[in-house]
Amino acid sequence: MNSEIKIVSGRSNPDFANKIASAMHQDLSEVAIRNFSDGELWVKYEENVRGVDLYIVQSTFAPSDNLMELLLLIDAARRASASRITAVIPYFGYARQDRKDQPRVAITAKLVANLLSQAGADRVVTMDLHTPQLQGFFDIPLDHLYASTVTVRNLLQLGMNNLAVAAPDVGGVKTARAYASMLGNADLVVVDKRRPKHNVAEIMNIIGDVDGKNVIIVDDLIDTGSTFVKCAEALKEAGAETIVGSCTHAVFSGDAIDMITASNAISKLYVTDTIPLRKQSEKIEVVSVAGLFSEAIVRTHENQSISSLFEKAQS
Ligand code: R5P
Repeated sequence: MNSEIKIVSGRSNPDFANKIASAMHQDLSEVAIRNFSDGELWVKYEENVRGVDLYIVQSTFAPSDNLMELLLLIDAARRASASRITAVIPYFGYARQDRKDQPRVAITAKLVANLLSQAGADRVVTMDLHTPQLQGFFDIPLDHLYASTVTVRNLLQLGMNNLAVAAPDVGGVKTARAYASMLGNADLVVVDKRRPKHNVAEIMNIIGDVDGKNVIIVDDLIDTGSTFVKCAEALKEAGAETIVGSCTHAVFSGDAIDMITASNAISKLYVTDTIPLRKQSEKIEVVSVAGLFSEAIVRTHENQSISSLFEKAQS
């Protein structure tokens, strides 16, 4: 693209946006974001964005104001005549409600995809959507990045042998298989998880042999920590040696971090910086994926291939 490139940040994860901008040797563009006394949001670009190839960085974890802020930033950019608006959403929230799994519920993943297009986004760049099929919910181009492009390097550095990769539920099998292949044909294990009610996980079965194995549990997100901790404990009981987690989005609600830190079954957990870490823990290490996003932005701007960034990581 010939037009100038600018990066702006919402308030959900400004450190991440700053890392993207500095990897591109530029500053974030100035934008004012304020709340009226009742909480209503107001945004204003403090510099000209007319004709600009604009990238708005905002993760949409709770509260929903993060999403609303992104929508306002897109709308303001469109009205200020930016030539192309890309919503860079490191963590795409509201993705877990992706089907009518019971009567009279909303499909929020589709609703948010519609809102982004309606606000005026021309494209989206995101990472490890809850399920890859969500890409089909968007009627605008979407580039889907994989954290494994970066995190597998850290996992390999642990130098663990006799490895198995565990999917914490059947939905995670494809991702776990991709990790197993990138980690040198590790074994694949599937944990049969049920949800008796919201935010509660119950482990029913472990499919595969983990006795004496070092196991890496991979997941797109950890929210309450219930899935991850129960999964690790079930694997340990089945004879696993060391258990390490690799999770992209550190949602970490409630006392998730304390639960993970306290669990004897868990040795280490890698998370990325798509969401700022709420609290430090000696077991949790943050791996930055900002460099991958900056590379994706540069390639989008220059109309180059994005898929070549993560060919091996595709799940
Ligand atoms: C489920 O499909 C996801 O991949 C995560 O395993 C799940 O959302 C984690 O939730 P929680 O940490 O609350 O168990």
